[in-house]
Amino acid sequence: MGWSTAPVDHVALTALETGYTAGVRLFDTADVYGHGRSERLVGELVAQVPRGDIVLVSKVGYFTGTAKHGYSPGHMRRQLEQTLENLRTDHLDIYFLHHNEFGPEDRWLPGAVEAMRTFQGEGLIRAVGMRGPHRFAPERLHANPGIRSDKVTRFRELFEVVRPQVLAVRDNLLTPAERSTGLFEFATHHQVGVLINKVLGQGLLAGGYDRKHPVVFSDGDHRLRKRWFTPPARALIEEGLSRIREVIGPAPTEPLELVRVMVWAALSRSQNAVALTGFTSPGQVRMNVAALAMGPPSSAVLDTAREIMSSVAARLDAEGEVFIDER
Ligand SMILES: NC(=O)c1ccc[n+]([C@@H]2O[C@H](COP(=O)([O-])OP(=O)(O)OC[C@H]3O[C@@H](n4cnc5c(N)ncnc54)[C@H](OP(=O)(O)O)[C@@H]3O)[C@@H](O)[C@H]2O)c1
Repeated sequence: MGWSTAPVDHVALTALETGYTAGVRLFDTADVYGHGRSERLVGELVAQVPRGDIVLVSKVGYFTGTAKHGYSPGHMRRQLEQTLENLRTDHLDIYFLHHNEFGPEDRWLPGAVEAMRTFQGEGLIRAVGMRGPHRFAPERLHANPGIRSDKVTRFRELFEVVRPQVLAVRDNLLTPAERSTGLFEFATHHQVGVLINKVLGQGLLAGGYDRKHPVVFSDGDHRLRKRWFTPPARALIEEGLSRIREVIGPAPTEPLELVRVMVWAALSRSQNAVALTGFTSPGQVRMNVAALAMGPPSSAVLDTAREIMSSVAARLDAEGEVFIDER
């Protein structure tokens, strides 16, 4: 529901209702999003629809309150209780460990995993989620655990302990394909689902940030700190999007066509993947659902769009404007 560009409550709720009416059934939130505001807004939708119709996802870990650590088991239980109250439900379909920092020597890891298992046993949550690594080299996923102390090895070790049913992964046309393919293969091999985020590059890939319509972020918007939102990076991305527009061809529905490419590029990654798209208006939700309903663009368009954006990603890397903020 956006950051400093987030809409006021009634507009956000209308956007959620618009999504539900159009067929959206999975709603992804977290305790820390707007410090409960996002959950409470989703809760307003939950109160209006049959609970069994929707898949509710929330997360714990970043918001610590006065607890020693976000994964202190007592804190996790209190957060889950608050999350259920905010979402106006008695259970979550997926509960995520929002990050993979479990303190010195993973002190908080066993307790966090045990808490999740207990919540599952009590019927408070159906499935456990964890976040994937941000760099996904396939050969590393298949290397013996413990050999390399890099992010992917660390992820594999944690995966064995947490044994999640769902992974959260960032992926879009600026993510080098070879980095993420390994993770999707890994997920399929382990029969876990994947929720993909950053599908629209936080708005950059939806074509809304061109030089003619500069977007101004207010203080506190995390996009102000991100290098790929700087003018030089935006110019490179815009150049790539213009080339994709040429491939799509002139059409009055062109922003929709661009979003269609982004949404289907994510969905084409895996049969077990869900594409999450953020929004700041009901119109964006309508467009994103319409892009889905159109079905995938031709594989020629998708392949060319991938090629174009991977050369943009290489140039962003070369200029130090790295799109992937974790290296
Ligand atoms: N598991 C995790 O740890 C994790 C991490 C990140 C995100 N997520 C989930 O993923 C969701 C999506 O967030 P994201 O960070 O991945 O961002 P995203 O979906 O890549 O981008 C969303 C932003 O793009 C812009 N936008 C959306 N539709 C558009 C359209 N049709 N035309 C033009 N602009 C459009 C809006 O920003 P403006 O209107 O301001 O331009 C919107 O806020 C989050 O709400 C969250 O549920 C999960």
